[in-house]
Parts: sequence; structure tokens; C-alpha cells
Amino acid sequence: MTKPLEGIKIIDFTHVQAGPACTQLLAWFGADVIKVERPGSGDVTRNQLRDIPDADALYFTMLNSNKKSLTLDTKKPEGKEVLERLIRESDVLVENFGPGALDRMGFSWERLNELNPKMIVASVKGFSDGHHYDDLKVYENVAQCAGGAASTTGFWDGPPTISAAALGDSNTGMHLAIGILTALLGRDKTGKGQKVAVSMQDSVLNLCRVKLRDQQRLERVGYLEEYPQYPHGEFSDVVPRGGNAGGGGQPGWVLKCKGWETDPNAYIYFTIQGHAWEPICKALGKPEWIDDAAYKTAEARQPHIFEIFGTIEAWLADKTKFEAVDILRKFDIPCAPVLTMKELANDPSLRASGTIVEVPHKKRGSYLTVGSPIKFSDMKPEVTASPLLGEHTEEVLASLGYSRQDIFNLREIKAV
Ligand code: COA
Repeated sequence: MTKPLEGIKIIDFTHVQAGPACTQLLAWFGADVIKVERPGSGDVTRNQLRDIPDADALYFTMLNSNKKSLTLDTKKPEGKEVLERLIRESDVLVENFGPGALDRMGFSWERLNELNPKMIVASVKGFSDGHHYDDLKVYENVAQCAGGAASTTGFWDGPPTISAAALGDSNTGMHLAIGILTALLGRDKTGKGQKVAVSMQDSVLNLCRVKLRDQQRLERVGYLEEYPQYPHGEFSDVVPRGGNAGGGGQPGWVLKCKGWETDPNAYIYFTIQGHAWEPICKALGKPEWIDDAAYKTAEARQPHIFEIFGTIEAWLADKTKFEAVDILRKFDIPCAPVLTMKELANDPSLRASGTIVEVPHKKRGSYLTVGSPIKFSDMKPEVTASPLLGEHTEEVLASLGYSRQDIFNLREIKAV
């Protein structure tokens, strides 16, 4: 089966998570992704949080599948020359170095465009170009704070809170992938490459747009009726943290199920979807609530929404999270068990769909990873192992026209 991105050659000058998540996605879809790494050490995540001595860490293997690895010291003239050859025949260069690093290496956008005017140059930075913080280096949690996620996540009586989801890293990588694909389509029309830039702050903010909605509503009316602070608590002039509230128009909360006293994940998320009120009452054995004026409308329910959640928790007390969802699904109520990583790793549906995959690796043995969350009718992305450091150096150099003697010489001077 041919893959849509076959024939697209990508120089993967990325490290840690944001950039590698982007290029991994493009590799799954068929692109020839060559990861350029510093000789001897490579991407820092190869060594970070290792669970097996001398084998690449899961942090690396789970973000670099389906790629090739070329070691290259791009600060040495000989390494720069190799990179230049690669640039001349590649379609895309992706990088997420700290601000200015690529320029300092001698590969500014102007220089790259001069070497290959058809090449797309895609960058991740913490802040966008020209932003007053554009000189800052940024990691995941920094971006979550800068993009509005932290100030709106957590409970109102606690500090700003970081999400476990990689809103700053992988999310930015996904934005960049969309930008690259768009620029590739644009190039088909114009014949020209272009620069694609995504900042981590912008990508987080893009996912927090409903909170910007709430800021404007708050400024206009002084309260937010779907937040737990309404109507009994106080609002300031900024969007508050809403705990586990729904955030959209549907009130919801994380509710205790049987066993919560000992199992920290014995919970479900329960949503009170407006038009599902009647089935909710039926499921809970509370038919008298259906036409009760104090419960009938979303507006009437909101002042005592926590009393309603309390009643639901009492109903859940003798049901496990799985039993509860099995009952509630029959009533078409939007809900889900709070699943642990262990439960997800062993979920037969996720295994069958290729969302959780087991990948054989030369040094580690097999490991689990998250496969493509995007499914196609005409293509099944296969996940192959991440490369060992420099595994494809000779292959890539030979394809660029370097002889065995040239490669030997480059090795001698530690340029590769
Ligand atoms: N050969 C020679 N030198 C290389 C090289 C290679 N193959 N690959 C990288 N380098 C050099 C760079 O030229 C740079 O050198 P310089 O600073 O002397 O100019 C250096 O290695 C890398 O710098 P930097 O990217 O700033 O690394 P860092 O470890 O100090 O910072 C980050 C890491 C992630 C904070 C930073 O890269 C960053 O802010 N990136 C943008 C935002 C981002 O993507 N963050 C999330 C990552 S998940």
C-alpha cells in the first residue's frame, strides 16, 4: 500500500517532544524522515528517564518511530556541507531549537531558502517571532502557563495547575504538522517553499479558546453560569478555575463510584446534557424530578447542581465505574469511566484499532506506544521502531553521493 506522503523527504532537526511528535506523525503517513542528531549523544531524550541501562529511553522511542537517524555535527564545516547537500534535495526541514540557534549555526531562513527555494522550513518556538518573550527557551509546563491553560485549570481554592496532557509539546507539534501539509499543498500551486512557524504559547491558547470566550462573557455580565462559583460564590474580573466543571454548555463533574475509598480512580465523568434530563432521571430512579420545576430546566438545576451530583453519587455507591457506564450508556447519557494508564494499555479496543501498539526494538525488546490517532479508510499507518543513534548514517551519506572513504574521513574527524 503506498502512503500519501511517500516521496516527501524531511530533515528532522528536532529534539525533546514538540518537534519529534510532528515529524513522527508525518513519518507514519509515509514521509522519509531523517533525524539529524549530534554525534555521540543525540536527542537528549535518548538518555532521559531511562528504564533499561544502555537502551534508548521510552521518552525517545515513543516520539521517534518510523524515522532514520543520521549523526552530524552541524557546527563543523564538513558537517555543514553534508547538511547543505541534504537540504538541496529535501522537501521540508523541521526544527525546534532554542531561539536563534539555527541562525547561529549558519542556516537562517534566507540561507535555507537560497539553498533550496522549494523547501519548507518549519519551526517550533516557545513564543512567536516579535513577541516580547521571543528570546525565551520554553518547555511544556512553561507553555501551559503562558498560553492560559494553567490559570484556568485546577480548583478555585488551589494554585494554577498543569495538565498531564502535552498541550505545549505534542499539541504544538500537531499544529506544525497541519502547517507543513498546508505549505506542501501551497507549493504544488506556486512551486515555492515557505517558512511555517508555530509557537507553543499560541498552540496552547488555541486549545483554550473557550476560556477567552468566558473572559469576554464575564466582562459583559459579571458571572459565568456554568461554573461552580455560580450562583453562590464570587467572581473576580478574570476567568476562574472551574475544577471539573464541563466548560461547555453542559454541566458535568467527576463522581465517586464503588471503591473510591481505596482506588483513586474509581470515578466516572457524568454529563448532564440538557435534553437528556428525562433519561437521567429514569436511570437514577428519580422520575419525580422530570417535571419538578426545581429540576426541569438547566437554569433551575444550576443553583443546586452539587446536590444533584450528590444524589448521583449515592446511586453510584454500589456500582463500579464500568458497571455504572454500562447502565448509563443504555440511557444515552454522555459519560465515561476515569481510565488509568494501566487500563488503557490493556484495552482490547485500543489494541484492535492500532491506537496502542507493541513495537519490537533492537535493544529494548518490545515496547508499547501510542499509534496513529488518525484513521484512514485507505491506509493503516504501521509503527516501526525508533532508530538507534546514527543507525542510518552510512545509508544517508551514500545516498548523498559520499564514498566509503569520504564516510571514513568524516568519522575520523567526528563530523558524523
Ligand atoms: N550538531 C552541532 N550542534 C548542534 C546539533 C548538531 N547536530 N544539534 C543541535 N546543536 C546545537 C545548536 O546549534 C545549539 O547550539 P548554540 O546554542 O550554541 O547555538 C544547541 O545545540 C541546542 O540549543 P537549544 O535548542 O537551545 O537546546 P537547549 O537544550 O538549551 O534547550 C529547549 C532546549 C527545548 C528549551 C529549546 O530547544 C527550545 O526552547 N526550543 C523551542 C521550544 C521547544 O520546542 N520546546 C519544547 C521542547 S519539547
